[in-house]
Amino acid sequence: MTQYNICTLPGDGIGPEIIAEGVKVLEAVGKKYDVRFTCTDALIGGAAIDACGNPLPDETLEAAKAADAVLLAAVGGPKWDTTDPNAPRPEAGLLGIRKGLGLYTNLRPVQIFDALAGASTLKPEVIDGVDLMIVRELTGGLYFGKRERFYDEEGAGTNGAKGQRAYDTLEYREYEIERIARQAFEAARKRRNKVTSVDKANVLETSRMWREIVHRIGEQEYPDVEIEDLLVDNTAMQLINRPADFDVVVTENMFGDILSDEAAQITGSLGMLASASLGDSTALYEPSHGSAPDIAGQGIANPLAQILSVEMMLRYSFNMNEAADDIRRAVTEVLDEGWRTGDLKDASTPADKVVGTVGMGDLVVSHL
Ligand code: NAD
Ligand code: IPM
Ligand code: MN
Repeated sequence: MTQYNICTLPGDGIGPEIIAEGVKVLEAVGKKYDVRFTCTDALIGGAAIDACGNPLPDETLEAAKAADAVLLAAVGGPKWDTTDPNAPRPEAGLLGIRKGLGLYTNLRPVQIFDALAGASTLKPEVIDGVDLMIVRELTGGLYFGKRERFYDEEGAGTNGAKGQRAYDTLEYREYEIERIARQAFEAARKRRNKVTSVDKANVLETSRMWREIVHRIGEQEYPDVEIEDLLVDNTAMQLINRPADFDVVVTENMFGDILSDEAAQITGSLGMLASASLGDSTALYEPSHGSAPDIAGQGIANPLAQILSVEMMLRYSFNMNEAADDIRRAVTEVLDEGWRTGDLKDASTPADKVVGTVGMGDLVVSHL
């Protein structure tokens, strides 16, 4: 029997609740396809800070590196929000594991389940046919540049006033843009052969370099793929104006973070958006949303982004496309039958069709 070791990282907030459903689905699929998935929990985020003062303990990174794939839920929460720049933050654990595993590509597919057309805040005719893939650069850009916060004794600026000062820097090297561009073009070749490269080239030097490199790679290596350049502010608007026109959207780390939450709303809920973070070794799969502290511990979180992240794991790490298709079909059927978690329900949803986190996981398993 084929065996795979999965490093599971529940994290904080709704994390432990939703990852249990992801694991349940993974194990059910394993049984059906005669593959044994052995899931072993490790600490990350606030839970790791509480246990040992470090959001990414060495053992966690080692366990992740040694595993065949990593399944993460979410990190963070008000308990660990602090203005002390020296205090450990849960989010540093997530950034650390992305960097530590070299996960420079983050794929965030935005697809509509027909049954959820009414759950989106956009009109059905606007979201009809939406199927896009955000390719977010994940280990560079504004998230990983030099940063500092200090008290400026000298005083600077127009009025020369003393006070606090802080900066974050956005930096890219040529190879970082080349490799994410190739990932975007490769993805486009398997889809509809179009890449929208999103930048702020009218203002930022990094963006002007980004645009130049994306075009060089595209024109030299992928002449069959169409390239469209779009400024990030305009993209934010076009995404809800004409979402069906987009195929692959490739962009800088923070631009991709913001645009993907926006794009999630096209699907009806942030609770639907899965993601895969890929690099040169172990890959990591996680929902695009966070730890949802406002609903944590209530058993009402939508586990589908987590479950659809398991689908991505089967596709990208284990080449188990049939099993992945099975998960997608099961989710589609459950939604077609009218089952909804709280975030997906609308005025027409009968009360007896609203299920909690475990209920939704059980329904998906029963359709596998
Ligand atoms: P969030 O994504 O946690 O929540 C935003 C809104 O969406 C909330 O109203 C929440 O209830 C809702 N939501 C999110 N996921 C849901 C789900 N599965 N089912 C139902 N509703 C869901 O973003 P936030 O509130 O801005 O951040 C909360 C914490 O999460 C912060 O500490 C942040 O740093 C962290 N965060 C972590 C990740 C991650 O681990 N990948 C991602 C984003 C935010
Ligand atoms: C995400 C999250 C993270 C990010 C945070 C929690 C560091 O928002 O995965 O989208 O910004 O990358
Ligand atoms: Mn985000």
